[in-house]
Amino acid sequence: MAANIKAIKGTKDTLPSESYKLQYIEQAALDTAKSFGYHEMRTPVFEYTELFDRSVGETTDVVQKEMYTFNDKGERSITLRPEGTAGAVRAFLEHGLFNEPLPQKVCYLTSCYRYEKPQAGRLREFHQFGIECFGAASALADAEIIALAKQYFDFIGIEKLAVEINSIGCPECRKKYSEALKSFFESKKADLCETCLSRLDRNPMRILDCKSPVCSGIAADAPVVLDYICDDCREHFEKLQTYLKAMEIDFVVNPQIVRGLDYYTRTVFEFVSMDEKTKGLVLGGGGRYDGLIEELGGASLPACGFAMGLERLLIYMEESGIPFPEAPKCNLSIVTAGEGATLKALELASELRAEGYSVNIDIAGRSIKAQMKYANKLNSQFTVVIGDNELEAGEARLKNMADGNETVVSLAEFVSGFERAYLDSAIDLSGVDFSAMTQTDINNLFK
Ligand code: HAM
Repeated sequence: MAANIKAIKGTKDTLPSESYKLQYIEQAALDTAKSFGYHEMRTPVFEYTELFDRSVGETTDVVQKEMYTFNDKGERSITLRPEGTAGAVRAFLEHGLFNEPLPQKVCYLTSCYRYEKPQAGRLREFHQFGIECFGAASALADAEIIALAKQYFDFIGIEKLAVEINSIGCPECRKKYSEALKSFFESKKADLCETCLSRLDRNPMRILDCKSPVCSGIAADAPVVLDYICDDCREHFEKLQTYLKAMEIDFVVNPQIVRGLDYYTRTVFEFVSMDEKTKGLVLGGGGRYDGLIEELGGASLPACGFAMGLERLLIYMEESGIPFPEAPKCNLSIVTAGEGATLKALELASELRAEGYSVNIDIAGRSIKAQMKYANKLNSQFTVVIGDNELEAGEARLKNMADGNETVVSLAEFVSGFERAYLDSAIDLSGVDFSAMTQTDINNLFK
């Protein structure tokens, strides 16, 4: 027998028993984005390799070591997107969105591909929720993006999270900083890995995010960029801090953050888990990239954005026991005996489904006993058995599986009868004071 084919290392299947969790965090992300005026953009999973070389940067780990790049049948070099910003900027330019009122605010939910060493929270195929704001230079835009992300994390119930910010300045500041880094690393040349050696002349800042333990050990003592930024960049950074304080968003300035992608200018930030079980896990990050639109052929337009990893968010939630909404339920299983009952079940099920209920009927030709067993496995909230007797009497007994209570319901008015029983069984929210509750309390209520 041939061996079973397994999923590729670093990829993850999401089974029906788990997918509702992803749907919940994705929908909440889109809703939060919408409340800030960000609307969804979808771009292809693959792009010309050149797009990422020119945006993410040729001397980054992502481009040098991690991209899934191949030639298609027309001998064009194609890359599976390692992140969402480059494609969003390409689409912004290609569709002339710069002619629309600025700033243009877009968000996306995408799969990304990076050939990294798989480990907890580090996959080769992962998923990002991201937002991009095109055409706003003010630090207010950076602050709004951080506020959006923070509002989202608060909504989900992520409480132990540090907001770390830094400024890596403009290209002018970077020149001075690169010189300082060059002379620092020059004396440590003998210990740097080969990739970092090649970065020394071209882009010494990238040595700071090399994952090799030796290089990162050396980099820990390197000069920090915040000491090299110009007055304008400093003022921009100070304004950002003023705005964050005005919104009562706690943050720390971490001068070590440089981010691993080349397009950033000025603001960079990360959301880092402070929960004991996942301490240090970076849930999301972003920053300003004022030069990228021009680099990719557009006018000189400022921009900034943020992206977070959905798998990492799920890890945080699972590890710290943040509740998810209830898994979707089967509202009703119709158990049938005989062809007449099946035809009736088909009719009732389609009426109920059109009303939004989840209804299961027997499509496997099984016995009543086997159908009841299946209804139990599905966690059906209600069951109803329909056979010749019920068809003749024109009524059937609707059973609430939670308490065993039965209600006789007319088959001719089954939908309204079911609706009444369903609403009677729903939890009584009349005396609940939602205003005094946190999102986690509310989530718990529905659990
Ligand atoms: P990034 O920091 O490379 O930024 O990725 C954003 C988030 O994606 C990370 O914080 C992490 O949660 C998740 N992530 C990254 N790599 C992996 C992986 N191998 N496995 C699982 N999760 C991962 C960007 O991608 C920028 N495009 C963000 C941005 C948007 N900047 C401006 N606009």
